[in-house]
Amino acid sequence: MKVTVFNGSPRAEQSNTNIIAQAFLEGAKSAGAEVENVFLIHQDIHHCTGCFSCWFKTPGKCIFKDDMEALMEKYLASDVICFASPVYTWNMTAALKNFVDRLVSLRNPVAVQSNGRYDMETRIVKFPDSVVISNCGFPGDHNFETIKEVFKSCNPVLEIYRNTGHILKSDQEEIKGKVTEYLDCVKRSGFELVKNGKVSENTKRDLQMNLVSTGDYIKMMKV
Ligand SMILES: Cc1cc2nc3c(=O)[nH]c(=O)nc-3n(C[C@H](O)[C@H](O)[C@H](O)COP(=O)(O)O)c2cc1C
Repeated sequence: MKVTVFNGSPRAEQSNTNIIAQAFLEGAKSAGAEVENVFLIHQDIHHCTGCFSCWFKTPGKCIFKDDMEALMEKYLASDVICFASPVYTWNMTAALKNFVDRLVSLRNPVAVQSNGRYDMETRIVKFPDSVVISNCGFPGDHNFETIKEVFKSCNPVLEIYRNTGHILKSDQEEIKGKVTEYLDCVKRSGFELVKNGKVSENTKRDLQMNLVSTGDYIKMMKV
């Protein structure tokens, strides 16, 4: 099984998103998966210009010859892919959105109905299963509303939303202990997904653990 993370944080290797993504991949690897961690900010991905050549002129092929060709191969070779991003202005980052827009070439200009709504037909037999990882810097899970809504369409098998993302790097002893407990749980989710094909309800519940009270976090933000 191959598991690939596409991380849209401009802070790449240093990102809070990567702390979570790495724990997830570590768990997946320990269950036997081949894993890859792609930092989209380091990739040359042209904006989709909406020409629809990939639908009408050269089906499946984009007019731009850039890193997206290799990334598409990674995407299609994966059994599980993870869209990972911090929240920027209540949404995913531009780097991840850019990547996601270019996946339009995996669709055909044919509207099909499913579960009472129309979507565009897919050119591939099966999309990889999707995981969503996001962290945000402001208190409150409402910051994830847009990201949740956008990725609903790919029916994620696992969603990891972590508010108070900055404290993943806290050097306060009592917080460090809580962060370790949380990251162990993220690892467990990666392990279970690869081993059992799904993540248990217990692990999903534990992923929502509070790392610090909102009041304490707001105080820390001022430091
Ligand atoms: C341009 C910009 C917009 C942001 N918008 C939000 C936001 O709408 N809600 C939020 O909770 N945090 C927001 N943040 C804070 C980031 O989500 C936070 O710093 C996060 O931990 C960064 O993650 P990273 O290290 O993975 O890049 C924003 C940060 C930046 C730079």
